[in-house]
Amino acid sequence: MTDPAIETLLAEERRYPPPEEFSEQANAKADIYDIPFEEFWEREGRERVTWFEPFSSLLEWELPYAKWYLGGKINVAYNCLDRHVEAGLGERVAYYFEGEPVGERAPITYSQLLEEVVKSANGLKALGVGKGTPVGIYMGMGPGLPVAMLACARLGAPHTVVFGGFSAEALADRLNDMRCEILLTQDEGWRRGQTVPLKKNADEALESCPGVRKVVVGQRTRAEVPMTKGRDISWSELVEGQSSDAASCPCEPMDSEDLLYLLYTSGTTAKPKGIAHTTAGYLVGAATTHHYVFDLKPDTDVFWCAADIGWVTGHSYIVYGPLCNGATSVLYEGTPDFPDKDRWWDIVERYGVTILYTAPTAIRAHMKWGPEHAEQHDLSSLRLLGTVGEPINPEAWIWYREHIGADRLPVVDTWWQTETGMIMLTPLPGVTTAKPGAATKPFPGVEAAVVDDRGQEVGPGGGGYLVLKRPWPAMTRGIFGDDERFRATYWERFPGMYFAGDGARVDEDGDFWLLGRVDDVMNVSGHRISTIEVESALVDHPSVAEAAVCGRADSLTGQAIVAFVTLKGSEEASVEMLDVLRNHVAVKIGPIAKPANIVFTPELPKTRSGKIMRRLLRDVAEERPLGDTTTLADPTVVAEIADRAVAQPAEE
Ligand code: WTA
Repeated sequence: MTDPAIETLLAEERRYPPPEEFSEQANAKADIYDIPFEEFWEREGRERVTWFEPFSSLLEWELPYAKWYLGGKINVAYNCLDRHVEAGLGERVAYYFEGEPVGERAPITYSQLLEEVVKSANGLKALGVGKGTPVGIYMGMGPGLPVAMLACARLGAPHTVVFGGFSAEALADRLNDMRCEILLTQDEGWRRGQTVPLKKNADEALESCPGVRKVVVGQRTRAEVPMTKGRDISWSELVEGQSSDAASCPCEPMDSEDLLYLLYTSGTTAKPKGIAHTTAGYLVGAATTHHYVFDLKPDTDVFWCAADIGWVTGHSYIVYGPLCNGATSVLYEGTPDFPDKDRWWDIVERYGVTILYTAPTAIRAHMKWGPEHAEQHDLSSLRLLGTVGEPINPEAWIWYREHIGADRLPVVDTWWQTETGMIMLTPLPGVTTAKPGAATKPFPGVEAAVVDDRGQEVGPGGGGYLVLKRPWPAMTRGIFGDDERFRATYWERFPGMYFAGDGARVDEDGDFWLLGRVDDVMNVSGHRISTIEVESALVDHPSVAEAAVCGRADSLTGQAIVAFVTLKGSEEASVEMLDVLRNHVAVKIGPIAKPANIVFTPELPKTRSGKIMRRLLRDVAEERPLGDTTTLADPTVVAEIADRAVAQPAEE
């Protein structure tokens, strides 16, 4: 065997086969993996969605661009709303909306959601929005956001949702890149009891967006916001006098490959990439994965994806996948600790949530706060748990299963990206034996592999680069306006394969373990060590809530490992603790992975979607000026860490 591209050191032996009762009733049985890839996507394409005109050809593949379900005519909003109402399901709740201010609640049925979408679409039409008009959306996590997206989809107007936590500058870049003509926003949003000045940011952004001719302003907090005459109108003016009858605004029949949306991902430094998703393949991919991975039973389940719609997770698993499947979801506006740290568990109990999908960063926050907050609530409605967004440390996985899942619920660790549009590696909850920290298997109809520097598949146990070997329906159709960058970023490193930018290993059972972004891999004395394994060894210690590691230059070993550690609520940082943790890593992984120094810190720098930003920690560890911090959720965190790092000299 060749040298592995990344070494893997941490052995995780715990196994959790699916409970028998779960398997018996599961949407996906073991034989789902036997269906040939084309047959699988052909079947799902015919059954999962409703076509105005059926597709005539499944797939056209001219690397790196795929086209799916060609010749079909379809509308996403029709699939998400009208067809359910036509089928007599109008009274079913689409969203239990839970506002952040306590007590602000509103169930919204499919009929009501359809009416709101039709009125808004009629209003937008009056503003000249039609097929192909690019629309920007900059709103908080209220029902108005899915209404805005679906109104666009109904008219065939592609949208870009810009996360409400982004600044005016980030908003302006995105609106200009997509050449948006219309912006849908709102007065303010709520976040942790504070208001977020969305309209104010939008006004600032629009100073440099001459192409935006109309701005529609929803009212959430009802604060007075300045309105620019001739440009701005309120949402109530938009819908005033507009019909809510679906027939008054028929769904635009779209080609399968028409653009549905762009979603911008920030690279580490460069300009954000407008990741393009088209209509039919995206919808089929999102709905199919939602059905099988979450085992959705639309009549009885209450599904909660506790993410923000501003990220792809929310696009696929709060809006398009669940609505297409006729699901009932929770839509929560605020943060998990407002007004108290039990807010989530209160929500789970009140609505009888059956399926909960969240990110490792949130789980680690709950770990840090302690299980007592969940213990105050009856979580017995839950039957399935999921995670996404980062590699999950085995201890966080176990904590989630034990404290939230009564030590019996299946946990699905799902790997995917904005670019993939849908879940790609995942357990199937009634089929797969779960392993804490493993995303396990490619979803049916998906082919993945781990390769070395030369693109050769590495054998079981070896670490390397995660690649995808054939097209899938929800795959991105490119970076908007930048073919060259699309090819260079994803397709040139390993010819013929999609390079995800993540490290992974496959074990003896063929299960995939994600090792983090390859840019984060450390090189210590010639050993390439992944960040997640050292972090997981640290989180394995009972005093540790969260850890991030990175390499800094070392004249002896090339790189030395620096760890940034957040301790659990009551634990105190001390020199003894530092030794204990270094030794703990040495025991769990080996002396090679022992951090040269550990910086204790109450918070880690994270992106607004909750991913740890190791690039900035490297700057801190190297005592370099900090790189781009604009995508940080809380920019003060790095400055504080930098102070602490200087105060704590390196060991050895
Ligand atoms: C990471 C989020 C390990 C990974 C849907 C990927 C994960 C990036 C997992 C995409 C997981 C996501 N295990 N890592 N289960 N899920 N990632 O575009 O590095 O916000 O490339 O999409 O998140 O992030 P994005």
